[in-house]
Amino acid sequence: MAGPAAPLSERFGQIYGPGQRVRVFRGPGRVNLIGEHTDYNLGFVLPMALDLACFVAVAPGGEGLLRVYSDNLGETRQWPLARLTELEPARDWGDYVAGVARELLRAGFALEPVNLLISSTVPVGSGLSSSAALEVATALALLGDRRMDGLELARLCRRAENDFVGMPCGIMDQYVAVFGRENSAVKIDCRSLEHELGALPAEIEIVAVNTMVKHELGQSAYRDRVRECGEAVEAIRRRKPEVASLRDVSAVEFEAVAGDIPEAPRKRARHVVTENQRVEEFIAASRRGDLRRMGELFVGSHRSLQYDYEVSCEELDFLVDAALAMPGVLGARMTGGGFGGCTVSLVRPEAFEEFQARLTAAYQERFGLSPQVYRCRPSAGAGEIS
Ligand code: GLA
Repeated sequence: MAGPAAPLSERFGQIYGPGQRVRVFRGPGRVNLIGEHTDYNLGFVLPMALDLACFVAVAPGGEGLLRVYSDNLGETRQWPLARLTELEPARDWGDYVAGVARELLRAGFALEPVNLLISSTVPVGSGLSSSAALEVATALALLGDRRMDGLELARLCRRAENDFVGMPCGIMDQYVAVFGRENSAVKIDCRSLEHELGALPAEIEIVAVNTMVKHELGQSAYRDRVRECGEAVEAIRRRKPEVASLRDVSAVEFEAVAGDIPEAPRKRARHVVTENQRVEEFIAASRRGDLRRMGELFVGSHRSLQYDYEVSCEELDFLVDAALAMPGVLGARMTGGGFGGCTVSLVRPEAFEEFQARLTAAYQERFGLSPQVYRCRPSAGAGEIS
């Protein structure tokens, strides 16, 4: 076999034995440009799929088992297919695989015994969505030649994460892992579940910088934010019963009802309604090539996440503020769920080398950690590779 699948097929042979007909599926990670914590409030997001990706190799197995080996961790998990539907989560990486298999069974797809090999270049805990990359690539590997509508695929993978892994995430990560496109950011309307593709101005680099930390608080805070947004909607509905989600409230309307909402949910809601507006404005600015405005909106998004949504942390704030003080940086913000993971910056191409060197040195000096820096290229969504 030629092409990028060849090394993984060879590795498969080393682990499960040679001479098998191996297929390889890819699910990309993503960076979210703007529209943070808006997806589960049915608003707008603007992610792009990355060339960092999770690869899942698959070949027929035996003994009624779904067996999986992670090359990143050097660990195996296996489950009897017949017991998958009553399985309890083990609270580790295997849950993503088992959760997807379980959802496929629940959706009426029969599963044959298979061996899987996972190899991912998406750093875990980086906020670049290693989990959705794994879910989507796993689903495609288990489906094989069977076709599933892209939206169904994204929803099924999200259900695996919501119902089995136990993380109440929105649809963004799975959606862009499926629908990402080369050279395009993907604007997703998380209520209609439709999307539009759009190119970004050529004169900017999208640069993700990894704090290399992931604070424990993240998971419980995510749940708290989902709940607080629900509380805000409840308070608004007393006066405006037609409001079903924060998506239904414009920034102007919000000011009129803000006084009815208790403080914490009010701050969360203010982030969400202003962030939805920033997504629209960012896309408009990008279309007219207004780099300055794009940068300002990035900074506005970060401050809102920092002070109103309260999901940033010291390391993220440091990387944002240090980036903003550097030449050729148009804007910077945290990306993903928060409490660690990555920032995303808009950088002029000629300033990139200096940006990388100075930011790395400053972060090392402050936190004693070497941040990874990724130049992000908008890449294709999930599929089989050969
Ligand atoms: C995580 C979730 C997404 C989204 C982001 C925040 O990545 O998986 O659904 O809510 O956080 O924008």
